[in-house]
Amino acid sequence: MKPWWIAPIGIVGGLASLSVASLAAGLTLRDGRWWEAAVHLAVLSGLLPMIFAVNHRIVPVFSRRKWRSDSLWFLLIVAALASGVISAIGIKERELWFERGGAALALVAGVLFLQQLGQLFRQPVSGPPPPMPYDGQRDADRVAIMFSRMAGLYLIAGLVIGLVTTFSTPDRGRWELVWAHTLLLGFVVSMASSVTYHVLTRWTPGRWRTPRLIPVHFVLAAIATLAMVVALATDQSWLFKIGGPTQAIALLIWGINCAPLLLQLPSVTREGMMLAFGFLAIGVSLGAAFAIDAHFGPIYRQVHAEFNVFGWAGFLILGAASYLVPRFAGSQMVWTNLYRLQFPAIALSLFVGGAFRRMQNDGRGDYQTWIELTHAIIAVALASFALQVALTFRARPSAPVLLTPTPRRQPGQAPPKPQSQLQRAV
Ligand code: HEM
Repeated sequence: MKPWWIAPIGIVGGLASLSVASLAAGLTLRDGRWWEAAVHLAVLSGLLPMIFAVNHRIVPVFSRRKWRSDSLWFLLIVAALASGVISAIGIKERELWFERGGAALALVAGVLFLQQLGQLFRQPVSGPPPPMPYDGQRDADRVAIMFSRMAGLYLIAGLVIGLVTTFSTPDRGRWELVWAHTLLLGFVVSMASSVTYHVLTRWTPGRWRTPRLIPVHFVLAAIATLAMVVALATDQSWLFKIGGPTQAIALLIWGINCAPLLLQLPSVTREGMMLAFGFLAIGVSLGAAFAIDAHFGPIYRQVHAEFNVFGWAGFLILGAASYLVPRFAGSQMVWTNLYRLQFPAIALSLFVGGAFRRMQNDGRGDYQTWIELTHAIIAVALASFALQVALTFRARPSAPVLLTPTPRRQPGQAPPKPQSQLQRAV
């Protein structure tokens, strides 16, 4: 297996799964099992393989080490992609052994991912370290590493919970929510926090404006995620009332820390990231509202989930992929201007679809066709982006990741020569 295949398979496969998950989520009114299937497909086959694939390309660059086995990497990406599909089929068709098989495969992929990371850091270091953007970045990198470690713990916890609950679910607790938030908040959000603290000063010429708030974000996120998961698992609504709003504050601090740097990102990445944080703000405010007053939960559950998964995670992926894919592939992204259609189409469809869901729940008419249409639009936008990524990789698949740092000017130093967009730091 050629190592450069791994990132395209993970990213394109993940985007395609997210696209199908949107179609499935749109069918919820026909059969509630479509919803559960969509959530499993989006999380296991959509988000996890994409995060694994990006790690496969980026971690060796920053750690100056080489993976021991690319074949194992290929296996773990394929296992992750297959796990959500198999789970979703099992849920939709009530085939318990498919559900179990999908959950077991996801756990195998997660364990292999962490095992590969563990092995990588036991390899000898080669070459000098990539230059620091500026001295203060060291502290941000330290917090980023703590977020990665926390993400690893929640990844395994979430995948074990997913497998165990296919055999038996305790009488107490809302275990489908424990599973979803362990993986989404504990793993995906922590991983995204780690990546932003590592890369934003490397992808832009800026510095952290609120460095003291970076560890505050970590401490609050660590406390709140644990509180939320324990509260959901034990039905302790008082603990959820503390954990939910604390989580919302932690994510607000993340937004405050990142906002000044997000504005300095190159176009498309900037728009994607800004939209991602906008949807996160709405999605998480709804979550905090559920924690304070549980009666909002059933009314806005799907809007909350879709704003967070297709809005926040979706736009984060679109934004980050627009930056990374050309650098991974060594070639400009094809059909660059398509984002002018894709971004508004996804954003509008999420709002309009949410409004239709609300009106349908209120019994103000039959909006099923409209709900399905908005989800189909999101699916087409994500699928077209997956195609763009695939074609970009096909254009020149074997170029190495460039690690030229963003040049910083010292006082009195002449301005640097303009770099091509592809020669910025990964
Ligand atoms: C302050 C943070 C959050 C709180 C307090 C919260 C709370 C909740 C609650 C109470 C529900 C169930 C609603 C009901 O039916 O009663 C829910 C569902 C869900 N949430 Fe969150 N949430 C938060 C953040 C997030 C984030 C960041 C994501 C994704 C990135 C997310 C993804 C989901 C998903 C996918 C579901 C639906 C799960 C399913 O139907 O199986 N949540 N959330």
